[in-house]
Amino acid sequence: MKKIILVTGATAGIGKATALHLHAAGHQVIATGRNEKALAELKAAGLQAIALDVTSQASIDAAKLEVDRLSSGHGLDVLVNNAGYGLFGPVEELSDADVRAQFDTNVFGLLAVTRAFVPAMRKRGSGRVINVSSVGGRMVFPLGGVYHATKFALEALTTALRMELHQFGIRVSVIEPGYIKTEFTSTTMSLLRKYVRDDSPYAAALQVGASAEEGLAGLAVGPESVARAIEHAATSRWPRARYVAPFYNAAGPWLMRLLPTWLTDWAFRRISGLNAAPRLVAPSSTEGAIASRAT
Ligand SMILES: NC(=O)c1ccc[n+]([C@@H]2O[C@H](COP(=O)([O-])OP(=O)(O)OC[C@H]3O[C@@H](n4cnc5c(N)ncnc54)[C@H](OP(=O)(O)O)[C@@H]3O)[C@@H](O)[C@H]2O)c1
Repeated sequence: MKKIILVTGATAGIGKATALHLHAAGHQVIATGRNEKALAELKAAGLQAIALDVTSQASIDAAKLEVDRLSSGHGLDVLVNNAGYGLFGPVEELSDADVRAQFDTNVFGLLAVTRAFVPAMRKRGSGRVINVSSVGGRMVFPLGGVYHATKFALEALTTALRMELHQFGIRVSVIEPGYIKTEFTSTTMSLLRKYVRDDSPYAAALQVGASAEEGLAGLAVGPESVARAIEHAATSRWPRARYVAPFYNAAGPWLMRLLPTWLTDWAFRRISGLNAAPRLVAPSSTEGAIASRAT
């Protein structure tokens, strides 16, 4: 059955692939995003396309009015919360502004968009909410603490929403992609490079992180499997609570539960350059005072 489906962050990567896939399957797809050129291209491909910056309440309000118009007051059958990006860097060193911006998009943006579109679903007694998390919503890589924190938060919100909205006929699923070939890595790398400094106490790990793009490229697969998982969550009579895409990435969180923490910590430290010999950075007077108190 044809559904009215809105996808956030549909101007690139997983969101774009999903919007095009669902459109090809015959659904009324409302592709949303910030990039006007990409939105125009989606419109030219036959999709409906509207501006939506998930961090702006004014933009969300305007998009809601437009959705009411495009759906003749029906509202959405399916909301796909996909917009997001990855801020990577040492937890100690990331700026407050960057951390807040990361949470604004990946968590507060998703929450605001969900709150805008769920009421119409609840009143109708039907609907689907599909949140794009990550396998990184259940396991953590060094330098990814803040990004993973947003995805762990998203997992918690999704789990609560799944139980709270069930009574109203609304089904809620989480999608956990593995490493997917999109613009994600280049955005992450350009944010990370800001923090690469020779005098950082994390310099070795930052160097490993900043030069990881080429090595990682071979591991990434196209976004089709994620688009298919989202289609299943949107249209199946029995949508699953969780989809890992591609499926074999489920091995990651599974191994993390199975193996002892000291072993997984050691392995991640080793591949991330965190086992390197400590750098001889002259301590600041405060650090020096703390160190001498500790000995
Ligand atoms: N690629 C992976 O390996 C991977 C793995 C696990 C999870 N994920 C998740 O998958 C989702 C999609 O990422 P992707 O891999 O497709 O990356 P991508 O190619 O960089 O696409 C991200 C999309 O989100 C949009 N976006 C960012 N901030 C936004 C905002 N404030 N308002 C509206 N749209 C915004 C971007 O639009 P602009 O072009 O305007 O920035 C872009 O369309 C993210 O939630 C990400 O965390 C990705």
